[in-house]
Amino acid sequence: MKGFIRTFLALFGALGIAVIAIAGFRGDFTRRTPIEIFPDMDRQPKYKSQTPDTFFPEGRVDRIPPYGTIPFHVQTDQPYLLTGKMGNMWGTGIPVTIDQKLLARGQERYQINCQVCHGETGAGNGITSQYGLVGAASYHSDKYRQMADGEIFNTITHGKGQMGPYHHIDVKDRWAIVAYIRALQLSQNAPANLLPKEAVPTPNKP
Ligand code: HEC
Repeated sequence: MKGFIRTFLALFGALGIAVIAIAGFRGDFTRRTPIEIFPDMDRQPKYKSQTPDTFFPEGRVDRIPPYGTIPFHVQTDQPYLLTGKMGNMWGTGIPVTIDQKLLARGQERYQINCQVCHGETGAGNGITSQYGLVGAASYHSDKYRQMADGEIFNTITHGKGQMGPYHHIDVKDRWAIVAYIRALQLSQNAPANLLPKEAVPTPNKP
């Protein structure tokens, strides 16, 4: 008899636990704050990217890396790549491989970062000109056609006059933008000998 009661109680207990485990406490939805015995680091004061805040003078949370910050994958033994300078002079040449991929990347980065002010073709007539920002340079003047690649790179890095610095753009991407600016310039002012034959109108024969 004693053995039977013990077995019965054990089975009854096991059944009870099984019923509670299967039917009870099954992720019910509640709006009440859960009891936290170990809150770990569930809540901590932090800034979320792309949110405004009054703590910083520009009223935004995202920080621009300090001037001179170089991503770890950039080689620092290439001064022209990083500064656009060869010795004391602005250098010329794009120190990254120019191919269709680089130009496409340059176009994309240009459209994201520069087009608002400099316009789709680089004529200095971006959307901001309709809202009072005048004077964004047009790339289609002799001054900018002749400007050294390194100087344009430097303008992107440090800004100029009213234009702010863009040194948060990856170094290679800055050069991709320079290459794309050259393509924009060519698109508006190509010497005839660089045009494909079919694009050059044949003069009317008398
Ligand atoms: C907020 C508007 C704005 C944006 C965005 C902008 N620029 Fe400018 N940019 C200007 C203005 C304004 C000037 C004229 C600055 C001056 O001479 O005072 C200028 C000048 C320039 C010049 C000529 C500098 C010189 O030495 O005369 C270049 C080159 C240039 N920008 C390239 C770029 C590139 C590349 C980007 C994108 C990475 C860019 N800009 C983004 C407003 C802008």
